[in-house]
Amino acid sequence: LLLISHEKLCRIEVMAYVPLRTACFSSQPKEVPHPMQNVQRIVLVDFGAQYTQLIARRVREAKVFCEVVSYLTPLSEILEKKPVGIILSGGPASVLDADAPHIDPAIYEQGIPVLGICYGMQLTAYTLGGTVERAAQREYGRVPVDFDVNSPLFAGMKAQSVAWMSHTFHVTHAPEGFTSIAHSENCAFCAMANPEKRIYAVQFHPEVTHSEEGQKVIANFLYNVCGCTGDWTMSTFIDNAIASIREQVGPNGRVMLGLSGGVDSSVAAALISRAIGERLTCVYVDHGFMRKNETESVREVFTKQFPVNLVIVDARDRFLTKLAGVSDPETKRKLIGGEFVYCFADEAKKLEGVEFLAQGTIYPDVIESGSVKGSAVIKSHHNVGGLPADVRAKFTGGLVEPLRMLFKDEVRKVGEELSMPHDMVWRQPFPGPGLAIRIMGDITADKLETVRESDAILREEVALAGLERDVNQYFTVLTNTRTVGVMGDERTHDFVLAIRAVTTDDFMTVDWARLPYDLLAKVSARIVNEVPRVNRVVYDITTKPPATVEWE
Ligand code: XMP
Repeated sequence: LLLISHEKLCRIEVMAYVPLRTACFSSQPKEVPHPMQNVQRIVLVDFGAQYTQLIARRVREAKVFCEVVSYLTPLSEILEKKPVGIILSGGPASVLDADAPHIDPAIYEQGIPVLGICYGMQLTAYTLGGTVERAAQREYGRVPVDFDVNSPLFAGMKAQSVAWMSHTFHVTHAPEGFTSIAHSENCAFCAMANPEKRIYAVQFHPEVTHSEEGQKVIANFLYNVCGCTGDWTMSTFIDNAIASIREQVGPNGRVMLGLSGGVDSSVAAALISRAIGERLTCVYVDHGFMRKNETESVREVFTKQFPVNLVIVDARDRFLTKLAGVSDPETKRKLIGGEFVYCFADEAKKLEGVEFLAQGTIYPDVIESGSVKGSAVIKSHHNVGGLPADVRAKFTGGLVEPLRMLFKDEVRKVGEELSMPHDMVWRQPFPGPGLAIRIMGDITADKLETVRESDAILREEVALAGLERDVNQYFTVLTNTRTVGVMGDERTHDFVLAIRAVTTDDFMTVDWARLPYDLLAKVSARIVNEVPRVNRVVYDITTKPPATVEWE
């Protein structure tokens, strides 16, 4: 059983959540085989930098597996991972602070290449006997840097290029055995190296795109210094993941997974299906707020392409009845979340002999949950069940989380590699409560039809215009407002429908998408002609903040 993260279903606390990992499995299940045990790995030690995930992604883009660990991780544990190289991340602290995070100095004596970035550079200098001081002036932004292109770290680069700086402290004397290999006008040590010990450090941020040749620096460290072979590919991942699922589950084990139709749970289901076939049961609760054809597509994919034991719970009437007359957005979310768990638990209870629970957890969930940051706090919306205790007790085998080490773009690559349908792999974010929060006010079957059909038209036209990848999320909203119109000789009094389309990197801040007028004209014309109960279409041109992406 794979349970979708409850965040996706409902952002608010529906019930007293307990992290599933701890609640379900108080006695730790047997050690889960690591699907990446046969690939070379870089260990990235996190000192709390905002760019840590980005560094890990850049390493993986260079086809080398990278695992993030907290700076609190003992050296022995890092060595057990057999890294071919270690990266020390940036971080907000100053090494001169009394409570600054430090590192076991023995890390530099293992014969394993080390790359310190920003704080990681200052820490390396400080730990090995160099001097770190407050700079006369903070260096921030794009800075021209002169590189020693004879160093393996900068091989093949231009002698001068722009690098992104963000630091208040800097190295003024390098430790013994180190020399400066890059400098800027204000900073004599933009990078330093001890080539004999294969220890390198850079003050700038190679991971951000503002550093012109940043990716080259990362690749040089991986290939010229660590001797990586570039064995991190999605096909290697798939082979390893399938083997490790089989090992974890055993020859007869059964797994249950909650399928939401989203990318993560669908790709997890496909992988597990490849590993154990119909010993995987997927439970898909159709609450009736899905987009057009989504349920059919799930049925098609998971009966034909990736055959699993698929249970589709048709709860459409039940949800509609439960939500009748409810117009407060948070009450809608709460009712949908609660009802969803109820339906899901009900199915779980009926299943015999299922001892594993699968989840589509991905790496950002793991990093953000605190298990990497060394904090005991696990974000309540990740890995939460909200499942009743008797249902949780069924899963004595543990959690199966095949995507636990992947970033979202890697999950999509796995989906593509498995030849999953394009629409499923590239599905835009869709809230757990679905279309229910895109109907302002109370929900009826008619209003659902209106919003579903108009959403389908918008998606079709955006795809035809070739803009699917340029706009991060786009949908229609049925406002609760009626306006006067005229159709034929008749006066109408129908709904105003809004189009929302946004561009964003992280959904924390968004801009409204500049959709071409011709496209908007076509969508508007089609909606008023083809969709009942709409006589006016408007376009939402608000950024977030102050607005949110969704209207409710
Ligand atoms: P907002 O509206 O907060 O949306 O700007 C940011 C992103 O979150 C999605 N969203 C939700 N996802 N349950 C979810 O799983 C929800 O209740 C929910 N509300 C918003 C939204 O679609 C956007 O991608």
